[in-house]
Amino acid sequence: MNQRPSGPFRVGDRVQLTGPKNRLHTITLREDGELHTHHGVLKHIDLIGLDDGSVVANSGEHEYLALRPLLRDFVMSMPRGAAIIYPKDAAQILAEADVFSGAVVVEAGVGSGALSLWLLRAIGSEGKLHSFERRDDFAEVAQANVETFMGEVPDNWQVTVGDLVDALPETVEPASVDRVILDMLAPWECIDVVADALTPGGVVLCYVATATQLSRVAEFIRGTGLFTEPEANETMVRGWHVEGLAVRPDHRMIAHTGFLIWARRLAPGAVPPEVKRRASKSSYGDEDVEMWTPGAVGDRQITDKNLRKRVREAQKAAQGARIAAASAESHTPATDEIDPSA
Ligand SMILES: C[S@@+](CC[C@H](N)C(=O)[O-])C[C@H]1O[C@@H](n2cnc3c(N)ncnc32)[C@H](O)[C@@H]1O
Repeated sequence: MNQRPSGPFRVGDRVQLTGPKNRLHTITLREDGELHTHHGVLKHIDLIGLDDGSVVANSGEHEYLALRPLLRDFVMSMPRGAAIIYPKDAAQILAEADVFSGAVVVEAGVGSGALSLWLLRAIGSEGKLHSFERRDDFAEVAQANVETFMGEVPDNWQVTVGDLVDALPETVEPASVDRVILDMLAPWECIDVVADALTPGGVVLCYVATATQLSRVAEFIRGTGLFTEPEANETMVRGWHVEGLAVRPDHRMIAHTGFLIWARRLAPGAVPPEVKRRASKSSYGDEDVEMWTPGAVGDRQITDKNLRKRVREAQKAAQGARIAAASAESHTPATDEIDPSA
């Protein structure tokens, strides 16, 4: 398995070539392979044995920079069945869900396999990843992507086609899973089976695209009484342009992808100590409205006297405008009165 993508280029390696005009080509090295472009022919054999990061010329003397793609490069360019989790969110998922080397992890849905690749890398060969996907065509895309990047389908990765709600209890023993990551439209539908599968102290993390999903899954997790208080965040990454004295944020960024929400499985029967906090409300009482009066939020309040003065000023201005308009009308000459020589 191509677990350690370093050292000189070997047959079977994926190599990203940056050619004339920054055009990218990704090739898989073969002894007799050739890259044909209108700039000439580049023989794969000329790359085999060279260090990662070398520059080679093709038959037309055009130069190409050769690098093995990083995982982030690969996931952004690989074929997609469903929308992928972006690297910025995948990195945060690994941190917030505390995915560790050797962990037993459940993931659903698999989609295009982007998150599967990050998870497989994080758990290493000692870990186990159970991935669930209800669409077999998406599962096929994901398996092909993982095989392409890793050189083979790793034997510690099990992909099950089916709905997580039905398939999870049939696949794993109760309380045997360390981490569960859900990336799907309705994660709340799966929380009950996830609670059964998770080991006490284990983490469930959901990636959701909208605030309404976030709210619904938070309330569902809370309502089970089986988890710690859920925490949520989103990650915004702003690139910077750093060149000479032009050091500034990029003009464009990906402003929104999704939210993360996670919680830990309590031990059976455990009731966490009550946290004293204001109960959240579904409607506003007089007291809440009072809290938002201009005075309460520190806005300067206008006195009645001042307000009457402002009204008089505004009315006076309006009257002035009315008089000006009337006088302009009475002085406007009819069209046949206009002297063109004036
Ligand atoms: C946005 S995609 C996942 C993308 C994936 N995380 C990636 O990074 O490539 C969501 C997937 O969840 C699958 N799905 C939705 N609900 C599911 C469920 N209850 N069980 C299994 N798969 C489900 C959908 O078919 C879809 O392929």
